[in-house]
Amino acid sequence: MTNRNSKLAVAVLASGNGSNLQALIDAQQEGSLSYEIKVVITDKHGARAVSRARESNIVAYEYAPKDYPSKADYEQQVLNCLNKHNIELVVLAGYMRIVGATLLNAFDGRMINLHPSLLPSFQGIHAPQQAIDAGVKVSGCTIHFVDEGLDTGPIIAQQPVTVTFADNADTLQAKIQKLEHKLIVDVVELIAQGRVKRHGRIIEII
Ligand code: GRF
Repeated sequence: MTNRNSKLAVAVLASGNGSNLQALIDAQQEGSLSYEIKVVITDKHGARAVSRARESNIVAYEYAPKDYPSKADYEQQVLNCLNKHNIELVVLAGYMRIVGATLLNAFDGRMINLHPSLLPSFQGIHAPQQAIDAGVKVSGCTIHFVDEGLDTGPIIAQQPVTVTFADNADTLQAKIQKLEHKLIVDVVELIAQGRVKRHGRIIEII
């Protein structure tokens, strides 16, 4: 992904609201960035992420896993779509599904995920609630490469946020999302510029 003449072709996979997708779209429209969102895919019919994409003239597909005989068949459909659009980087932004071998093998090192905690703390669902329950004073968000584990891949970037006594899971989630919207744009742009280097589990930003 270095010395490119064309923009990095990005796909966003999202299951829900898609506010992070929106941040990527807005940044792409506002600035002269090095990536372009070519396609949005959701696993949930009617997800807001899909209408956000279409409002910005980005192609969006809805593939519900229950419509396929197996997870591998579902992922093969997603993979065919990614390949059809010559996708180079897959961004999981609120994609509420564990990625299986079909997609992982095809996009190893080219798939990133956004998680609302400072990993490795609070993996899995309801991370802000987990942070509140644990009484931590600092939480945040993480962007990492996807591997076969649940939120276990090499960490690319993190942003911290202070947790106060007044916070609950909703207020903490809102604070974290604000940070996510900037971090996701920054990281996708860094990858597009070829500035993210992997050394095993350690990531160097050059
Ligand atoms: C984000 O908080 C992200 O960390 C988590 O899911 C949420 C998605 O939010 N994985 P949105 O759909 O982008 O608004």
